[in-house]
Amino acid sequence: MNLAGRDLLKLSDLTPAELLALLTQAAELKRDPYRVDLRGRVLGLLFQKASTRTRVSFTAAMAQCGGSTIDLLPTVMQVSRGEPLQDTARVLSRYLDVIAIRTYEQKELEAFADYADIPVINALTDQFHPCQILADLLTIQETFGQLAGLTLAYCGDGNNVAHSLMLGCAMSGIHIRVATPAGYEPDPGVVQQARTLARNSNSEVQVLQDPQEAVSGSQVVYTDVWASMGQEAEAEARQAKFLPYQVNADLMKRADPEAIVLHCLPAHREEEITTEVLEGSQSRVWEQAENRLHAQKALLVQLLGAE
Ligand code: CP
Ligand code: NVA
Repeated sequence: MNLAGRDLLKLSDLTPAELLALLTQAAELKRDPYRVDLRGRVLGLLFQKASTRTRVSFTAAMAQCGGSTIDLLPTVMQVSRGEPLQDTARVLSRYLDVIAIRTYEQKELEAFADYADIPVINALTDQFHPCQILADLLTIQETFGQLAGLTLAYCGDGNNVAHSLMLGCAMSGIHIRVATPAGYEPDPGVVQQARTLARNSNSEVQVLQDPQEAVSGSQVVYTDVWASMGQEAEAEARQAKFLPYQVNADLMKRADPEAIVLHCLPAHREEEITTEVLEGSQSRVWEQAENRLHAQKALLVQLLGAE
């Protein structure tokens, strides 16, 4: 695997083999968290939206390896006064070794990456959330000792997390079933790309409307908020449409008895997931959140060419 100097704007920027190698390295770093030396390396965090897990796990990952982070708060940067992203990207490339960006449009992230000379990491856009899926796959692998051949059911909104999950599952041989209300399906272009990747891993990508059909016999049940950041105005209107997609004890009866439940967090209890399931014995959400740290540390090590 040689990811030195590359960007991670979406999961399919990696080959399936690179993705699996990254997960192996993440598992190794989880066992030996302080082994890597990133002294003197600086990660910039340019976040246009709120974040707990992504921001703190990236910061902790750098700190554990002797590197440092700079919080590039948009409100105090000149971008808030109209300095073009292209100029910001070129200047920041002279100070930083790597940058993680959370923003709205994927195009904005891509434009930044075009002008930056350092690796650019997608820390969430409206379209994708690749770092999340690295941790999700690590959690699934830890639980089942494998990825290929499992079935993951995603119930809810065809959003950024659903898109990256589709790509990640298709790349690693997990069958994915995405169940959404009509009108909230994942982007057809992403579905197409996932199906192309799935052909090479002998997995299947299904887009459904029936959550019970999606969950039936699956080993992983996944959900995310019904209204993502930036969609707050739609939240109320979405409630009734999404209620049948709630991950609750009844829906879980359809899954494999050994199934685990994942949620990228933050969760809205009694909306997309009940407290009973979130706090129940099948939930792996806290392990999943922890794995953000290990997975992103592996990513940083690779993009910085540190080993
Ligand atoms: N799951 C996730 O990305 O969480 P944050 O929004 O807290 O970073
Ligand atoms: N889909 C959610 C994920 C948050 C981590 C959002 O974009 O708000």
